[in-house]
Amino acid sequence: MAFPKGFLWGTSISAEQAEGAWNEGGKSPVQIDYAASGSASENRRIWFLNEDGSRGSVPVFGHLPKGAKYHLFDDIHYTNHTACDFYHHWEEDLDLFAEMGFTTFNTSIAWSRIYPYGVQGGVNREGVEFYRQVFTRARELGMDPVITLYKYDEPVYFEETYGGWDNRAMIDEFLAFAKVCFTEYKGLVNKWMTFNELNIIMMMGMKQNDLKRRYLEMHHQMVASAKAVIEAHKTDPDLKVGAMIAGICAFPLTPDPADVMENYRYFQKMFCYCADTQVRGEYPSFAESIRQEDGVEMVISEEDKAVLKEGKADFLGFSYYSSNCITTHEDAETGKGNMQDAVRNPYLQVSDWGWAMDPVGYKYFLHVLNDRYQVPLFDVENGLGAYDKVEADGSIHDQYRIDYLRSHLRSLKEAVEEGVNIFGYTTWGGLDLVSAGTGQMEKRYGMIYVDMDDQGHGTLERKRKDSFYYIQKVYHSNGEDLD
Ligand code: BG6
Repeated sequence: MAFPKGFLWGTSISAEQAEGAWNEGGKSPVQIDYAASGSASENRRIWFLNEDGSRGSVPVFGHLPKGAKYHLFDDIHYTNHTACDFYHHWEEDLDLFAEMGFTTFNTSIAWSRIYPYGVQGGVNREGVEFYRQVFTRARELGMDPVITLYKYDEPVYFEETYGGWDNRAMIDEFLAFAKVCFTEYKGLVNKWMTFNELNIIMMMGMKQNDLKRRYLEMHHQMVASAKAVIEAHKTDPDLKVGAMIAGICAFPLTPDPADVMENYRYFQKMFCYCADTQVRGEYPSFAESIRQEDGVEMVISEEDKAVLKEGKADFLGFSYYSSNCITTHEDAETGKGNMQDAVRNPYLQVSDWGWAMDPVGYKYFLHVLNDRYQVPLFDVENGLGAYDKVEADGSIHDQYRIDYLRSHLRSLKEAVEEGVNIFGYTTWGGLDLVSAGTGQMEKRYGMIYVDMDDQGHGTLERKRKDSFYYIQKVYHSNGEDLD
């Protein structure tokens, strides 16, 4: 057997992309509740009203201009408001997960359901009880849930009150939220991840102005994460708390040493800057030079350094979808990927959204992480976003998704046989949900189809795709039968 007994198999979803019920159960609004959908060629944007009444927009993760207010417009359909309505379908969904043989599942807890208006507004018991039911049932069905605290969805209230993560006050707010979760779900959740893809600020946010602010936001999130790790271990020494970093797997486009160096620097900046700090407990030696290149000076206090050291992550979670290329040569063709713009690899096929499919890169990446970090790994996200067609008889033949998953699972198995220390694999979005990048429902990752389109038409009925039966076979055989 390649995979050890007890290896965790499942899928990953998130509160804001799956739950819907955006204004139910005492939840307060989050930024994404104001985002319109994009398309395969265009990322989504947040729309708002400027102080003078005109309409404006910023990319997701962007900050509103001074005086502007979030606003819902009648001519925009907001896909996250309903999403796949996990909030009202969770029992049925967990049953389907169990049928596929899940031994875990990952979702995030919406901060805006637990503390809709920060600590001063008090804990919303309805939100606490919602997740308690979900985690209890998951356990009854044989799943050991791995739960994410923060997935880009702090209540808008915080932005209005503190301005955002560049304000240190966010650290205490986050810690209070984490404490409630660790205490309320003690015994139900034994593995946590603090921030989903903390390096997303590096990848997305840096495209917008104010680099200093972005570095500060990352720093505060890393300190908040470390404090949460310390708190979790105090609550229960057996709790395992991981970091979660978006997988950056890139290759030099040519053997030109300048490309090789540029590519390594890209990896240091986009991945290691955050992963090293969270897993090794201190900023890497190259961190300051990275900031200097961006013209940012930041003094890290001794107190923060001590917190980072004490609050090292117990494991490293990561996502992997595709790989890319990096070059110093100007005539290269641009490529796309998860929140990254890089250069297209001529050896690889791309998905309908332009993401290169690279199972060999996946194996390479698993080895790199294993060698560099020497802590248990957890693959939180892997999958193919594609258009699906429902046949007249209701079946969905998603052979392309099976091919993608199979090739990546083979790489995973080989990596494990070659010594990579990983304790779980969860596909991304096993239940069709809203795309983070484009806001579409029709960019589907699921093994379970959800009848809902980008305009809000659909019954929300769930259907098993062909990939449902493939994953069921894989998970029931503990990863032995991948054919
Ligand atoms: C990951 C995010 O980076 O990529 C998910 O954690 C996201 O939230 C996933 O959905 C796939 O990206 P997209 O843009 O296809 O939804």
